[in-house]
Amino acid sequence: MPQNDEKRFYRVLGALERDPHVCLLKNYRQHKGNTTFRHCRSVAEYSFRLAQRLGWRIDEAALARGAMLHDYHLYTRKERHVNVLKHAFAHPEQACSNAAAVFSLSGKEKNIIRSHMWPLTLFSPPRSKEAFLVTLADKYCALRELRGRR
Ligand SMILES: [Fe+2]
Ligand SMILES: [Fe+2]
Repeated sequence: MPQNDEKRFYRVLGALERDPHVCLLKNYRQHKGNTTFRHCRSVAEYSFRLAQRLGWRIDEAALARGAMLHDYHLYTRKERHVNVLKHAFAHPEQACSNAAAVFSLSGKEKNIIRSHMWPLTLFSPPRSKEAFLVTLADKYCALRELRGRR
């Protein structure tokens, strides 16, 4: 079974968690009061665990960066009174453009962010194993959080 470098994954994730731009996510909430920061961190961790479980060899840095930035839209939907559907369709692109403004993102990392709501965002499908893992982990984590589990 292919082994991913767990240390590399957590090193990249840890650096992002300390980055002041990423810490902005602590100011926004989603899924019953969870912070967007905690949600993104859970998605990153679960995506990596899923890759290990499936035995998929992945790019640890791209997975950590794409997952941690996948909801970098920088607003709380309810505070802005954004319609649920409009948010669902529009926020991946918003997150990608916000993240690309402060980080130098690879094409793979941009696709992870843009495609995380797939299949809702039909024309932005996941184009890598890392992106596919994030689409799955995001849904799993969102459901857990909506049921009050962190
Ligand atoms: Fe999202
Ligand atoms: Fe998300």
